[in-house]
Amino acid sequence: MNSSSTRTDQDPRVRVLEAAARQSLHAPSVFNTQPWRWRVTTDALELRADPDRQLAHTDPDGRLLMLSCGAALHHARVSLAAAGWAVTVERLPDPSLLARVRTTGPADLDVPAGRLVDAIPRRRTDRRAYGDRPVPEAVLARLGDAVEAEGAHLHVVRPDQMPMLAVSTGRAADAELADPAYRQELHRWTHRPAGSGDGVPAATAVRPSPRRVPLRDYAPGGAAGLSAGTDFDRGAAYLILFGDSDEPAAWLRGGEALSALLLTATAEGLAGAPLSDAVELAWPRRMMRDLLAGIGDPYLVVRVGWGPDAELPPAPRRAPADVIEVVAAPR
Ligand SMILES: Cc1cc2nc3c(=O)[nH]c(=O)nc-3n(C[C@H](O)[C@H](O)[C@H](O)COP(=O)(O)O)c2cc1C
Repeated sequence: MNSSSTRTDQDPRVRVLEAAARQSLHAPSVFNTQPWRWRVTTDALELRADPDRQLAHTDPDGRLLMLSCGAALHHARVSLAAAGWAVTVERLPDPSLLARVRTTGPADLDVPAGRLVDAIPRRRTDRRAYGDRPVPEAVLARLGDAVEAEGAHLHVVRPDQMPMLAVSTGRAADAELADPAYRQELHRWTHRPAGSGDGVPAATAVRPSPRRVPLRDYAPGGAAGLSAGTDFDRGAAYLILFGDSDEPAAWLRGGEALSALLLTATAEGLAGAPLSDAVELAWPRRMMRDLLAGIGDPYLVVRVGWGPDAELPPAPRRAPADVIEVVAAPR
């Protein structure tokens, strides 16, 4: 993809916009598909979905694709806020565009955004088991506030609801693994060509171990590179991210809320990992809806807790030049 200008002759605003697009590439995405594209113009960032990266079988409605793109959008917004820019965001302004983020001028120092932007490169999906220490109520309340600020909601799964979560996640995982089309899609995204910069390599997958809620097996057959550790998720909190409706615009906002949740958790020192098995198939998703007593539509389950000290290898990322197109004219 071509850029029509070089870094040095660009308007400073274009440089900030491009930097925000680059920061957003750290965002989490389903199967690490990174299903987004950015276009940088003189005063705006345009976000598009990359339909070739949608999981046709696992995510036929595009729910997880939109959540992933929403997470990238929030990363970019945080980056711009931390760099001192005020923006307006138009979501789904036309059918080909997920969002247009326009800079409107300098903004006051945004300390919370500074905290979140620091968390962007440190955040990882930590699939290992978390320790016994519970997540304090006050921290869970801050995670809930971060999600509400993005127009979505968070339900902390109660102890009496844990069996329902564990059973629906386990059954969903079993049903998917029994489906050859799912296995083929999983294989495709866990065996990427060298240098693709995407997918879930065995080095970031975790070997099976007893867990309160089963984890997706990214290396069926046993090639996972990481040990789950010595813990059993006893202190982990399981959170259901949900919203008021089940349609693309709401999923995009849900993705922004997911990013807010995960970056806030990272800033708090917590480990976090999304679990989407239970929302991928219609019947377990209904069970999640029942678990929410019908107050909203479930988007994703997220486990948070105190992870092992040893650092995790970063998941691969696509090259910025393959994802970001700069079309701003030189000064
Ligand atoms: C919508 C969505 C669904 C995800 N579902 C799962 C999941 O079911 N299990 C899991 O271990 N990770 C899941 N992830 C995490 C991704 O696999 C992870 O973001 C990606 O591999 C990149 O790694 P990173 O988050 O460490 O940067 C999900 C992420 C998103 C955004």
